[in-house]
Amino acid sequence: MRSEEIEEFHYIREKIMAEVKPSREEAFSLLKEYNKNEGLIKHALAVEAVMRYCARKRGQDEEKWGVVGLIHDLDYEQFPEQHCKKSEEILTERNWPSEYIRAVVSHGWEICTDVEPQSELEKVLYTIDELVGLVGATALVRPSKSVLDMKAKSVKKKWKDKAFAAGVNRDVITKGAEMLGIELNELISDVIMGMREVADEIGLKGNC
Ligand SMILES: [Fe+2]
Ligand SMILES: [Fe+2]
Repeated sequence: MRSEEIEEFHYIREKIMAEVKPSREEAFSLLKEYNKNEGLIKHALAVEAVMRYCARKRGQDEEKWGVVGLIHDLDYEQFPEQHCKKSEEILTERNWPSEYIRAVVSHGWEICTDVEPQSELEKVLYTIDELVGLVGATALVRPSKSVLDMKAKSVKKKWKDKAFAAGVNRDVITKGAEMLGIELNELISDVIMGMREVADEIGLKGNC
């Protein structure tokens, strides 16, 4: 091939790849290829469900938001020291669209990357990731051990108790809520609603 033809070939290939959206099945099997820890899989499923709920509420592309949520911590089990950076490598190798890769990387803004969340999808992912952990931990100390009968008020109480689920970075959540211009109460309710949809799969159905 002549060099112009090669260039043309690459251009067309890139255009096609940019339009090919990774499917949910593809994302889930990739996640399971890199993650064996049940807790991490449950976290991924919870984040996916919340992203789907938020996308629907905002009239956005539910599949795209869900797939990004599902895959966001892809590298965490095997490469915790290179979190987000390894995911970028793996997804690039597999020809994932750059929009998805950027979204995955930006959830670690100021923690493990300097890619700032810009799109609505990125801002929501950044904000709800830590909150999913707090909502899950709160559910487990309730008598029902369930998200199905839980209200935002319970999470708010635990939010103030800094010793509870101390690993949950409340500052990230506050910053994210500010970026989105959304009240913490509404945000917590959205996370609870999303997690309810997969309560059984993520072990938070309790005795409800
Ligand atoms: Fe992460
Ligand atoms: Fe996460």
